[in-house]
Amino acid sequence: MQDRHNIMDIRRAASRALPRPVFDYLDGGSEDEIALRRSTSAYDDIELLPQALKDLSKSNHQTEIFGRSIPFPLMLAPTGLTRLFHKDAEIAVAEASNRFGLPYSLSTLGTTTMEDFALVTTGPRLFQIYIFKDRGLTEEFIARAHEGGYDGLILTVDTLVAGKRERDLFNDLSLPPRLNPRTFLQFAAKPKWSLPALFGRKFDFVNVAHRVEAMSDRQTPLHVYVAGQFDVSVTWKDVEWLADRWKGPLAVKGIMTAEDAVLARECGADTVMISNHGGRQLESAAAPIDQIASVADAVGGTVKIICDGGIRRGTHIVKALAMGADACSIGRPYLYGLAAGGAPGVARALEILLDEYKRTMALMGAATPRHLDASMVRRLTN
Ligand code: FNR
Repeated sequence: MQDRHNIMDIRRAASRALPRPVFDYLDGGSEDEIALRRSTSAYDDIELLPQALKDLSKSNHQTEIFGRSIPFPLMLAPTGLTRLFHKDAEIAVAEASNRFGLPYSLSTLGTTTMEDFALVTTGPRLFQIYIFKDRGLTEEFIARAHEGGYDGLILTVDTLVAGKRERDLFNDLSLPPRLNPRTFLQFAAKPKWSLPALFGRKFDFVNVAHRVEAMSDRQTPLHVYVAGQFDVSVTWKDVEWLADRWKGPLAVKGIMTAEDAVLARECGADTVMISNHGGRQLESAAAPIDQIASVADAVGGTVKIICDGGIRRGTHIVKALAMGADACSIGRPYLYGLAAGGAPGVARALEILLDEYKRTMALMGAATPRHLDASMVRRLTN
């Protein structure tokens, strides 16, 4: 993986490693993919204004989130169905995030149990919750998170229904993937992926399988599963209830406005993740980077702000911090690494992003994230 030099280069390697329908599930967004593209291209509209001759001899990128000190302002966002992309799944991702001391969140729809995840993660350990119709499951998640020594919970609020992901529809993608005459060649062309997928462990939602219908027995489009299982009656009261029960660090993921950030804080969250779910849910949702300033104006300094999605470069992290974020989170960049090369692939993706980030900080004359502020960025107007 050392000859991969940026995240889009690792993306190309991932597209070669995975059968087309699986790569499209990882890579795609909803409908016309405007939110997906804008989440990254919006960074192009922000210029950096460096400060010269600042003493960088004591550079330090430590940041605090979820009550833990981390070496860099970066975390790995929750992603479901990780085993689809590599047989070693979350264990491989954890191996790499441990190496860098970065927080990593398991998803409710992950493919490793909360207990196994707790055994392998040494960095801050997080669990992301979707609220199912079976409310007892949420109580169980809280108990298991307490027992497993989890540092924080993340409640995702932008997925009451699944986005319309058209690549998956055109590929006739079901989960787990189904072999039919149309897809046979695509899967047969990637035996390194297909053989472990066919003969290895089942694609189960292992954290919910014992209470609600898991997927492995039937082949289901994801949106059908979400519609069947997720509770659409969830409101801010549930955030309050969750904060009350959990009592530890709690993030609400999927916040896009200052008003909702205030509500999240009032309901007991201490972190908001500005996120459009990587452009996979609401089509034409604003780019997270464009929402940071207003959210930071409303709640900055009182809750932690994480900018989630669209980050493909170290400069993107620096721009988000300068706009007022405390940290950033990534999904696809580490999944591309996982698909391309397992744990070493994830490590390479993290290494590239952190190297670019540190280089950009130095070139900006910023010794720590605290040195960055809105005076060091300028938005292009058209
Ligand atoms: C996700 N995301 C996600 N979010 C979440 O809260 N629970 C989940 O189970 C998933 N699953 C998931 C699967 C895949 C394949 C992707 C790509 C994303 C969204 C994820 O946490 C994050 O918000 C985005 O990935 C951020 O955008 P980037 O970094 O992928 O551009």
